This record gives sequence, C-alpha cells and structure tokens, in this order.
Amino acid sequence: MIVVFGGTGKIGRQIVAQLRNEKHAVRVATRDPSSARFAGDVEVVAADLRDRHSLVRAVTGARAIVCTAQGGGGKGANGPQGIEGAGIPSLIAVAQNSAIEHFVYFSTASARADSPVEFFRLKYDVERTLRASGLPFSILRPTHLMDTWVEMLAEPITKKGKALVLGSGANAVSWVAGTDVARVAAALAVRPGEGWSADLGGPEALTLTQVNELIAASLSTRIRSENKMPLGMLRTMSMLMKPFNQVLARQMQMGVVLDTQPQVVDSSAVWARYGRPLSLSAWLERNRPGVKEGA
Ligand SMILES: NC(=O)c1ccc[n+]([C@@H]2O[C@H](COP(=O)([O-])OP(=O)(O)OC[C@H]3O[C@@H](n4cnc5c(N)ncnc54)[C@H](OP(=O)(O)O)[C@@H]3O)[C@@H](O)[C@H]2O)c1
Repeated sequence: MIVVFGGTGKIGRQIVAQLRNEKHAVRVATRDPSSARFAGDVEVVAADLRDRHSLVRAVTGARAIVCTAQGGGGKGANGPQGIEGAGIPSLIAVAQNSAIEHFVYFSTASARADSPVEFFRLKYDVERTLRASGLPFSILRPTHLMDTWVEMLAEPITKKGKALVLGSGANAVSWVAGTDVARVAAALAVRPGEGWSADLGGPEALTLTQVNELIAASLSTRIRSENKMPLGMLRTMSMLMKPFNQVLARQMQMGVVLDTQPQVVDSSAVWARYGRPLSLSAWLERNRPGVKEGA
C-alpha cells in the first residue's frame, strides 16, 4: 500500500493515476474525503497533517509514503509554519515508528537555507529532517511546474490578450511538466528508498516572456499588452500585503525569486533513467489551455 499525502493536488493526482494504471494499491490521505473523487479503486482516508492521530491511522499498513502536501498556498495553521514547519515533520516522526520502506518527499529546487522566502527555507528544513530521520527516502526538487504556471498565465492572455510579467521576465527557467515529475515519484514509490535526491527541471530553459508567447501561439492569439510588475513593486507590495493577505504576499516574494535566482537545472541523468520529459510546446499541445471540454 502506498499512501499519498497531497493526492488531491496537482501533482499528487497524477501520481495516484500513474500508480493505479500500474495496478498498485493506493491510499489518498486528505482533509476532506467527501469531495475527493478518483477513477478506479483508490482508498481515501481522512487525515490532517496537524493531527498526529490521523497520521498514525493513515500510514497503518502502508509500505511507502509520498508527500506532495504543502502549505505554500495556505494561511495561518495551514500555511508554511503549520505544514512544512510542524505537520510534515510530524508525519516523518510517525513514519519512523512504522514499517515504511520509502518516504518520497516533494521539495522544490528553490529550497535553500538562506532563501528570502520562508516557505522555501522551511522546505529545506524538512529535507534536513528527513535526511536525519534514518528513514529510506527520496527527495524530489522540481523547478517550476508548467501545470501551475500555464494556468495562471493563460487566463489574462485568453481574456484580454494581456501577458503577466513578473520582474524582467528575462530569467531562464527549466519549467517541468507535472506528468514527468509524477512519473518519477510513482516509479520510486514502489521500491525501497535509497537516500536519493534530485533537482527536476524540464528539457529547455525558457524565460517568462517566451512562455507567454508560446501560450498565446497555442491559443492562436497574440499578446496585445503586458501587465508588468517590476521587482521593486513586487517587493514593496509583498511587504505591505503581508498583514492582510499572507498568500498573495508569499506569491509576490516567489515571483522575485523566479526572476532573480538561477532557475536552470540539468536533470538529464534523471530523464535518461525515467523517460524523456515534455517540452513546453508538447505540454501545451497535450493540455490545450483555455480549451474547455467539448469545445
Ligand atoms: N506547483 C509548482 O510549481 C511547484 C514547484 C516546485 C515544487 N512544488 C511542490 O510540489 C508539491 C505538489 O505541489 P502541487 O502544486 O501539486 O500542490 P497543490 O495542488 O497545492 O496540493 C496541495 C495538497 O496539500 C494537501 N494539504 C494541504 N494542507 C494539508 C493538511 N493540513 N493536511 C493534509 N494535507 C494537506 C492538500 O490536500 P487536501 O486539501 O485534500 O487535504 C492538497 O492535496 C508541493 O510540495 C509543492 O511545494 C510545486
């Protein structure tokens, strides 16, 4: 049995689907089982990373844990302090007292001890806790997901022909497809952990400006104007917003990191082992942003 924390999320869903396709027994641990819908035979259990007893129940009988759960989009107790700072370390402690053969953790390539973003520092701390736990583990560190970013960038292009540009929009990024990182996680989860860690970036480095242009081309439209958010504006707004809207303030800080820190990684050794990753054009062709079902 493989238990997936975050199995209702963007990457988690794809991991669950890949494991089910290969006929592995999968359990999804979610705060809200009543709204979790999965095709096929997936066990769904109630669990909250802030409730240790629910974690013990959720991992009982499992031989692997995949954790894609995150507090990056949450606030208060469901934000980074509650999830990366307390909940995931608590899950690691529960796993130490179980028969877990593999703990697969989703961090980020931006996780660093000295990151200006608290969320990324806390993810780095989780990595350290897991490494020191004695558990067999894998740590996957994706760069930036096509799935998340295309959804956000395609909307203003579709509606107004407007491109969102954070900072200069000129920093190259190894965008990676959710389906590719999910494939790596699903392959790892079915065998014992070997203490492996890797940055996961896609096959090409593209700037935000290039991504906007490729999205527009895939929608058969063109960009008519830009919604530019210079670095100074992102930094100031992030500070001013923090007391009122922690999530938006955090996203703005992450926008600064996207535009100012190196975002290109060479993951060719990973893809040589786990299969060729999608380029952004191939991802767009496959997912058709802005095209609704039945259109
Ligand atoms: N998206 C990116 O660009 C990107 C880039 C690099 C790394 N990553 C990392 O990849 C992982 C997956 O990202 P994603 O975009 O797929 O995440 P997501 O869609 O935001 O999903 C987050 C998941 O966290 C779970 N969760 C949140 N609070 C919880 C709690 N208190 N107890 C139990 N579960 C909780 C949610 O489950 P329920 O609501 O069902 O409880 C949900 O399934 C994350 O660790 C993220 O940091 C993402």
